[in-house]
Amino acid sequence: MTLSLTPASSHPIPFLADLMTRSFEGYPVPISINETALHTMIRRDGIDLTASRVLMKDDEPVGVAFIARRGWTSRLAAMGITTNARNGGVGTRAMEKLIEEAKSRGEKEMLLEVIEQNTAGVKLYEKVGFIKIRRLVGYKLENPQVESDVDIEEIDIRELARTVTYHGMIDLPWQLSGTTIMQHTPPSRAFRLNDAYCLISNPEATDIAIQSVLVKARSRGAGLSAVLMRALFAKFPNKVWHVSPIYPEEMGFIFEHVGMTRESLSQWQMSRIL
Ligand SMILES: CC(C)(COP(=O)(O)OP(=O)(O)OC[C@H]1O[C@@H](n2cnc3c(N)ncnc32)[C@H](O)[C@@H]1OP(=O)(O)O)[C@@H](O)C(=O)NCCC(=O)NCCS
Repeated sequence: MTLSLTPASSHPIPFLADLMTRSFEGYPVPISINETALHTMIRRDGIDLTASRVLMKDDEPVGVAFIARRGWTSRLAAMGITTNARNGGVGTRAMEKLIEEAKSRGEKEMLLEVIEQNTAGVKLYEKVGFIKIRRLVGYKLENPQVESDVDIEEIDIRELARTVTYHGMIDLPWQLSGTTIMQHTPPSRAFRLNDAYCLISNPEATDIAIQSVLVKARSRGAGLSAVLMRALFAKFPNKVWHVSPIYPEEMGFIFEHVGMTRESLSQWQMSRIL
């Protein structure tokens, strides 16, 4: 059997979306990617299709690896192998090649996030030299009953993104970084209360995701993020609020302060120096 890696850019988007869906069969979170979702992922996360790879076993596509790139750093945005080809060393060989390719592009670090409960994934990435940076956690809250007369201001998502870039942790997970946040567009909306900022997904939907929360360093420790989140719960009542498991565990207390419950699924943020 020969394993070859072909550029994802030489395949049509519908083919890549279908291959990704098939490669993530049985994943802890059901994944069904259509063309639109893949286009959004490419734009928001900075995926480079010329560096991303379709994995071919002889003439059969058996997996896909999406690579995002920013400066000296790349991120394995997603990798999956079709069920018939798993647990036979394809993942390991693909990762070894992807690391070599990143080195030859002159990059210095590769990042990824993997679901902690995904035994095969964690084992694979540790085997090829990735180190755990921190645990990433998520939260949920259904229909919070909150009253608030705090006046919050709606701002351009670009202003929030600039603030995150300037004031956020330097090694924030890729999806929370100011660069990714800058790619969010309506119907997502950004709000501000003094030095506290929050980005949420479309508040007209029944489920709303909190996509970014930030308090400028000089105002931290005073519970400002909780005041802002409670004001949002009051402004958009009868919703289910979600925080995906991409937030550093050390930030979790801000969601606990507003009564959110931690989700059982968590991730490892991992890094490999090249
Ligand atoms: C995770 C995944 C990419 C691994 O690819 P793979 O081709 O099966 O990986 P390999 O065969 O090279 O195995 C890598 C290691 O994981 C182990 N492993 C594989 N499947 C396993 C399983 N179901 N349970 C426990 N360990 C497993 C292998 O034994 C190997 O470790 P070893 O070398 O010490 O024996 C593949 O299982 C997959 O596509 N899963 C669904 C999508 C996914 O989880 N992607 C990763 C997160 S983005």
